[in-house]
Amino acid sequence: MANGLMTVSYVAAAILFILSLGGLSRQDTARRGNFYGALGMAIAILATVIGAHVTGYALLVPAIAIGAVAGWTLAVRVEMTQMPELVAVLHSFVGLAATLVGYASYLDPSSHFTGAEKTIHEVEIFLGVFIGAITFTGSIIAFGKLRGSISGKPLMLPARHWLNLAGILVSVYLGGVFLGTEGSAGLPALFAMTVIALLLGVHLVMAIGGADMPVVVSMLNSYSGWAAAATGFMLSNDLLIVTGALVGSSGAILSYIMCRAMNRSFVSVILGGFGTGGSTSSAAAPAGEVVAITADETAQLLTDAKEVIIVPGYGMAVAQAQGVVSEITKRLRAKGVKVRFAIHPVAGRLPGHMNVLLAEAKVPYDIVMEMDEINADFPETDAVLVVGANDIVNPSAQEDPGSPIAGMPVLEVWKAKTVVVFKRSMATGYAGVENPLFYKENTRMLFGDAKKSVDGILAHIPS
Ligand code: TAP
Repeated sequence: MANGLMTVSYVAAAILFILSLGGLSRQDTARRGNFYGALGMAIAILATVIGAHVTGYALLVPAIAIGAVAGWTLAVRVEMTQMPELVAVLHSFVGLAATLVGYASYLDPSSHFTGAEKTIHEVEIFLGVFIGAITFTGSIIAFGKLRGSISGKPLMLPARHWLNLAGILVSVYLGGVFLGTEGSAGLPALFAMTVIALLLGVHLVMAIGGADMPVVVSMLNSYSGWAAAATGFMLSNDLLIVTGALVGSSGAILSYIMCRAMNRSFVSVILGGFGTGGSTSSAAAPAGEVVAITADETAQLLTDAKEVIIVPGYGMAVAQAQGVVSEITKRLRAKGVKVRFAIHPVAGRLPGHMNVLLAEAKVPYDIVMEMDEINADFPETDAVLVVGANDIVNPSAQEDPGSPIAGMPVLEVWKAKTVVVFKRSMATGYAGVENPLFYKENTRMLFGDAKKSVDGILAHIPS
């Protein structure tokens, strides 16, 4: 392919990636955004593969075929609730690729850089390998924590901040040694730094508790972008630089937004030590009585109400209750009840998790509200349905300064006239924190699998 045509293809792909990010920022344009992203990536791969620099088709074609089949199979099989794990694994691939490309560029016998160009190229290699190695092991640990195969408890080694600082300083020193060598004599320094960066990745993420994992995944997303951008510099590939920078900066912005939603500073999240994970309580059971309600009583409550707000959470995703929730909404609206949904920024297990489920169940976009748009409306609401949510409606975030989630903005559901909480037991949610909401006077517990509960309610609301 001629260089001019390749540049045009790369510019087209870059524009499509930017349009894709724009589209993904809103629910009603997300499908189009996804399409732009996929089209951009197809153009980018095609232009690169048939480009003038690529010759090893005997290896490349089978590699692409294996990758495509593996990606397709994973995408078809993955459950929505396992999405963050999949994303974490994919980030680890980007990190590993950046590390391997770094080594390959360094050992490339046809490399012809001299003087300042050689130094710049070697800085790119060193940085690319450093960020790539941290991203690789950090993402694997995040994957293990999200799956539950590694404990969600933060690992608090003594003097852990000093350990991290020492790792960074030794890496900077090794960088100096690496840059001062000729030929491939810098390999031992590069290798020593890689081992340090791999350990740093493990240590940084092991120190972060389960409740902060969403931010960590988005932060690793950002790292993987910067690793890809560094790879782009190593390979002199402009599109990889642009794409890496887009992923790196959008990941950083998303991490910032999520930190704000949890009322935490970004630095306090990446330094770790917060969040207990698991399902053990961090405090004594709150005072008050737990009052149960049945599905038909809940149906009665809903049909008598004028204003209803539904708060979906992780349990709705697990139970796959969104379809029936949507049907209940339709029937109530047909009876003149005002029904809206309140979405917390970290509800579920990945950004936008609830929005995707509700869109899939064909809930109209205009009744799906963000937390800030609806939080002031709870006092005027007759009934709130908390469908499999827990941490995001926990009043102790506001009332108990000693709570591990103190300061996290929450949906103030307890201010409504009646709150019905759908869950199977009195167990804690993701952050492992007791929830005083369940013991409040105006709260009713609808125990059982959320799908069965909503089926029961639907049966008592005639269409
Ligand atoms: P959680 O606090 O995890 O609470 C979910 C509740 O759903 C649990 O208490 C559970 O209670 C209930 N549940 C589970 N399966 C159920 C079923 N089949 N039927 C009925 N109920 C069921 O969820 P949340 O309120 O959505 O909050 C999200 C939490 O996850 C936050 O702590 C957040 O930081 C964290 N997190 C978020 C993300 C993102 S980006 N959204 C990613 C990772 C982690 P029972 O066991 O008693 O049924």
